Parts: sequence; C-alpha cells; structure tokens
Amino acid sequence: MSEPVGGAGERSSAAVAAEVMDAVRALRRGGLIGLPTETVYGLGADASNPQAVARIFAAKERPANHPLIVHLHRPRQMAVWARAVPLAAWELAEACWPGPLTLILPRSSMVADAVTGGLDTVALRVPAHPLALQVLEEFGGGIAAPSANRHKKISPTTAQDVRDELGDKVDVLLDGGPCRVGIESTIVDLSTGTLRVLRPGAIAAAELQQITGLAVDQTIEASLRCPGRMDLHYAPQAMVLPVPLEQVPHELAQQMARGARVGVLSAQRGPAWPGNIPWLPLGTSPAEQAQQLYQRLREADRMRLDVLIVVAPSDDGLGCALRDRLWRAAGRGAAPA
Ligand code: TXA
Ligand code: MG
Repeated sequence: MSEPVGGAGERSSAAVAAEVMDAVRALRRGGLIGLPTETVYGLGADASNPQAVARIFAAKERPANHPLIVHLHRPRQMAVWARAVPLAAWELAEACWPGPLTLILPRSSMVADAVTGGLDTVALRVPAHPLALQVLEEFGGGIAAPSANRHKKISPTTAQDVRDELGDKVDVLLDGGPCRVGIESTIVDLSTGTLRVLRPGAIAAAELQQITGLAVDQTIEASLRCPGRMDLHYAPQAMVLPVPLEQVPHELAQQMARGARVGVLSAQRGPAWPGNIPWLPLGTSPAEQAQQLYQRLREADRMRLDVLIVVAPSDDGLGCALRDRLWRAAGRGAAPA
C-alpha cells in the first residue's frame, strides 16, 4: 500500500489492510459500511444483494424508488452492469475515473430492481479514494452507495459526520479523512443518445464537452439561475439565503430586525457588517469552497443559527455545482416569523 489513506490518527498499512478486510467481510454478510470517497462518504452495501441494499434504504429512511449509484473498481466493469456502453462513456471513464463523475447507462439484466428503483438505467462510478478502491478491489463486485446521511440531510464529508448521521446503523466505518472534493459527483445521463448533466459537480460541462466532442444538455444547470425551482435537499436546520455580496448588509439588517439568529458564510468578512455577527469563513477558490461547504453548513447548525446568509458563488464551472447545492439548501421556504 503506497498511497496515503488519511483519516484520524496514523495507522500502519497492516492496520489499514485489516480495516479493509473487516469492511469486505461486512459487505459479504449483507452488512452496511461507511465508505470514504473523494466526494462525500457513502453508505455501502453489496449491490448484488437485494436484502443488503434494502438495509441502505431503511438506515437512511430513503424512499425505495430513489435509485443508488453502483461503485466499481475498474471502468471495464461497466460492461457487466450496463447492457450498452456508448463510446462517450468509455471516453469519459478513461479521462475522469477514478474520479467525481457518475454515468447513467441502460442497465444490464444482473442489476437488481432494489438498486435502480425499477428504472431501466443504472448509475455507475469509480471513486478516487485509496480506501474505497482497496475495498472495491478486495470485494470484487459492485458497491451500491448513496451519500451516508439521513434522507434530505447534508452529505457527510468526514467519518465523524457519518457517526453523527447514522451512528450504529453502520457495521464498519472506514475513516479516510476529510473528503477532498467535498460535494457529490457530477451525474451525466448517457442513456438516451445525448449527454445530459443531471447533477453538476467537480467535473464541469465544458470538460465533458471537450472530452467527448458532444454537445452537453445543460437544462439543469440553466435552471439554477432561477432559484426556488429545485427540490429541498442537502438542507441544514438554518434557512439558507444566497445573496450577492453587496446585498449582505441589507439582508443582515432585515434578519436582525426580526430577531433571527443570523450568520454569514463567505470568503471574506465585509467591513460594514456588525462586529457581533457570526462569520463562517469559506475558502477563496471554488475548489476550497466546495471542500468546506458541508462542514460550514453543519457548523451553522451547531451554532443554532436561524438564518445563514451566503455570498452566492459565480455560475460557471465548479461555481455552478456550488450554486446547485446552495439553492437546494435554500429550498426550505420562508424565514421564521
Ligand atoms: O459523489 C457521489 O455521487 C456520492 C458518493 C458516495 O459516490 N454518492 C451520492 O449518492 O451522492 P446519492 O444517492 O446521494 O445521489 C445519487 C443521485 C440520486 O439523486 C439519484 O436519484 C441519482 O443519483 N441516480 C441514481 N441512479 C440513477 C438513474 N438510474 N437515473 C437517474 N438518476 C439516478
Ligand atoms: Mg445524497
């Protein structure tokens, strides 16, 4: 084992290998594992065992028709889980895997209904985390894994977040340290003959177009420019209010006047903001912002904020993925009166 695995405390490679084998045994028994990936932590089960997959839905309290991503060790395993793999899928896998990209393809006959919620397609991804790859290699099969949070809550980006979200519902929790990307993978639908982004992520539309030479249907990305149309998801307790930087003082004054406990999430603290306002710093680059976003949303909850004003990121590249998560977090409705 030459790659660093990160995680809490130093472990010898023998200790890491033993943890990996614990996780593989849990998978073979039909158990659930906490799986670190480069995006967010997953709640993994043997994708070919419908009873094990059912435990994922029970643990998360997730509706059964909400399909899961199957994680694979190698791109060539796509041919086992998908009945047709278009050239664009091979090109994207070659360029982006292991990495934060999920491909939706027509499913093969071996894919259980429990995984796809009965859909005729399956979501596949090879994650870029050394621990996840070791588990996948030893296990040999596919690991079905949604983000390891309770339904509609914030995705976990540390092992401690998984403990807080799911506690003892996880049989083996692998600690791979804080997730490098910090937001969920880009999801691309290749099942209809076009290339459609279903969820923006760290792999941007321009990159997908450059790799495949195909036009990218960005309907989802375009809809992010009109907040309020997305479902509630990724939500902290606090009401999230994305606003342009220049509107922060006005919004602060309004929220304070109505007695809300309000904080601000932004790269810099504004000179005109009242000194007693809790400020949650967010990195200056989009990559740092993505890495820190969910940790900061969790902090806002620990601070018991009613309202979190967020300086909205730009709407290109990774900024587009950040806007997607913020707008979804903002889908909570009106502020407390
Ligand atoms: O980065 C990630 O993608 C993380 C890590 C753990 O890999 N996983 C993740 O899984 O975010 P989850 O279940 O929280 O989100 C997966 C999304 C869901 O919104 C689901 O509806 C969609 O993928 N999805 C899965 N299968 C699909 C399919 N066949 N067609 C369309 N959407 C699908
Ligand atoms: Mg999720």
